Amino acid sequence: MNSIFRRRPVEADPHRDTGLHRSLTATDLTLLGIGSIIGAGIFVLTGIAAATRAGPAIVLSYVVAGFACGFTALAYAELASMLGGAGSAYSYAYTSFGELLAWLVGWNLILEYGASVAAVAVAWSGYVGNVLTAAGLGLPDALMHAPVEGGIVNLPAVLVIVVLGGLLLAGVKESARVNNAIAFIKIGAILVFIVAAIPHVEPDNWKPFTPFGWSGVFSGASLIFFAYIGFDAISTAGEEARNPGRDMPIAILSSLAACTIIYILVSGLLTAIAPYQTLNVSSPVAEALLNAGVRWGGALVAAGAIAGLTSVMLVQFYGQTRIFLAMARDGLISPAFSDLHPVRRTPQKSILICGAAMALSAGFMPLTIIAEIVNIGTLFAFVFVCGGVIILRRHYPTLHRPYRAPGGNVIPVLGIVSCLGLMAFLPFATWVRFAVWLVVGLIIYFGYSRRHSTLGKVA
Ligand code: ALA
Repeated sequence: MNSIFRRRPVEADPHRDTGLHRSLTATDLTLLGIGSIIGAGIFVLTGIAAATRAGPAIVLSYVVAGFACGFTALAYAELASMLGGAGSAYSYAYTSFGELLAWLVGWNLILEYGASVAAVAVAWSGYVGNVLTAAGLGLPDALMHAPVEGGIVNLPAVLVIVVLGGLLLAGVKESARVNNAIAFIKIGAILVFIVAAIPHVEPDNWKPFTPFGWSGVFSGASLIFFAYIGFDAISTAGEEARNPGRDMPIAILSSLAACTIIYILVSGLLTAIAPYQTLNVSSPVAEALLNAGVRWGGALVAAGAIAGLTSVMLVQFYGQTRIFLAMARDGLISPAFSDLHPVRRTPQKSILICGAAMALSAGFMPLTIIAEIVNIGTLFAFVFVCGGVIILRRHYPTLHRPYRAPGGNVIPVLGIVSCLGLMAFLPFATWVRFAVWLVVGLIIYFGYSRRHSTLGKVA
């Protein structure tokens, strides 16, 4: 039988031994989620989206995008608890939709995880550049920007990816410890922002509240959707979780809920302490506090943002190598991506190859272009996760589901509709880039993956 349309049977044991260490607890997984979620979206894109798309109504954009992610998170929680594994949406699509669509979902997860590391590295470089400049140690502009922005290479963005790749090579537990510490620093910095901003709220800054109308709210939501990406990275750690059936739903839902509350508070306060037109800068959250005269707050927030952006890169980088691990095991990409180091059990070649590709993208591409392409690819994958819940309920109605999204199929359907809605508000140029990405993916599938597919050989 042609493997394109074959679905992989459900391997209904999320606890199976796959060779990776099962060392992560529910708390580790929740912090993994928070470490992955809060980053360039809230610290940089909020300012850009408020200034150019939504105005103070950016807070509503966060509510809109939060709903789309909430529906999808419930779908992820069901599939992650039921199926486990390292491949996340890719593996779920293989079981529910068959190989070709699974390949396309996996191909888009490369955008979500790999390209987002590059986007966040560029944002990190912006914050670090501002701190270095304030300390009188600024790098020349040519070494801080991509060629299309008038520079030569974004050097700090390249270097941070090289360092994080080294950390991942050292092994997952060490990386999780570092991530947990950074996630706490990041939450602390956000609390500092909230406390420092409240006395400087100026109600007039919220007038007019929706200067760009409702279309601005939705267009803002399609950009700041980036801020929510990462809760699903938890589902790539299924093979390293101690008790995936119970802990993955807890971690996915609690990390998303915490971040949604934080985003609504931060975006609301940010536009209340500074006129929205002034927020189109490279470190808006820190600069708004500085401009309000809270120098200590601005400095602490900048430090927390740098730590926060670092942990996002770490977790997304980790997630990318785990998805490649799953795709390589299925024969859809080279087996080099599933080779584990004999002692540390880390996929070393995958880390090196992914790291090189991410570093090149970060060095030579601007932030907004990367962020929008990440969003469209991620939303595409989310649609298939929600659809996968409906299909698997139909094909395997009695299979044990440690967690089941409530309300029949209403939630996955709302997830599909809201993700497609956000995609519709992304710019035309992003759709064109996305189409090119899909065509390249199809060429690789029909040129390599289809002939090497493990499922196809078994058939
Ligand atoms: N959600 C992540 C961020 O905002 C990708 O940086």
